[in-house]
Amino acid sequence: MNRLKDKVAVVTGGARGIGKCICELFVDEGARVVAIDIMALNYEKENVEGYAADLCSPGEVDKFVDYVLKKYGKIDILINNAGITRDALIEKMSDEMWDAVINVNLKAVFNLTRRVYPSMRENKSGSIVNISSVVGEYGNIGQSNYAASKAGIIGLTKSWAKEFSRKGDAIRVNAVAPGYANTEMMATVPETVLESIREKTMLKRLAEPSEIAYAVLFLASGESSYVTGHVLSVNGGLRL
Ligand SMILES: NC(=O)c1ccc[n+]([C@@H]2O[C@H](COP(=O)([O-])OP(=O)(O)OC[C@H]3O[C@@H](n4cnc5c(N)ncnc54)[C@H](O)[C@@H]3O)[C@@H](O)[C@H]2O)c1
Repeated sequence: MNRLKDKVAVVTGGARGIGKCICELFVDEGARVVAIDIMALNYEKENVEGYAADLCSPGEVDKFVDYVLKKYGKIDILINNAGITRDALIEKMSDEMWDAVINVNLKAVFNLTRRVYPSMRENKSGSIVNISSVVGEYGNIGQSNYAASKAGIIGLTKSWAKEFSRKGDAIRVNAVAPGYANTEMMATVPETVLESIREKTMLKRLAEPSEIAYAVLFLASGESSYVTGHVLSVNGGLRL
């Protein structure tokens, strides 16, 4: 299919998991994709380029955006997908755990988006999809830092949807809030917890990364041209 023909997409956290799946799906849909990740990036497909950098370093992010704009001339789509967890009950949550999660999941999204937005404004069009979480919608025990960051993503999404379209530009900003998906991020979650999540999920299973990626594709593509400021829950019917 060619839903993203001639589009240039930036995907954060594209080395593995949901981000990698988004990169490969976007390429199949005709996009040229640049993926940024702190880990090494390897892809079997053409038209996806890996760029190794830390999203928490404003200097590295500046260089990255300059590089993409120089090489590809524009950024049509931005997927803010990179994210981390550092779980603990509040008595055991250190400043380091709080700061690490807020810095990657929230501050780095603000920092990259404010660098990418001017090029979208120049073209008067663009689509930004931020990855939130079911935990940002409902909260979760032992994840107050992560829940705050992912609820913050919803606030950013709704604010930017208003701000970026206020002069009539076709710049849309939406969020996807995944439930639990089978990725390396889940590797630290004990099987008993996973079992209780499956039980609470209407569809009685975790998501495959591709099931999240298809929702992101919809919001990134012209098929959702009248959707903005929306949070699309993709969680199999899970209510935490
Ligand atoms: N897996 C789930 O069940 C689930 C559920 C809800 C939401 N999410 C969200 O979906 C997104 C993707 O999750 P995933 O499961 O694929 O995670 P993952 O851990 O498999 O991948 C995240 C990627 O982000 C990268 N990253 C982390 N910090 C970075 C930094 N400072 N600079 C650059 N890259 C960095 C990592 O290297 C990694 O490749 C995250 O935002 C996550 O919070 C995941």
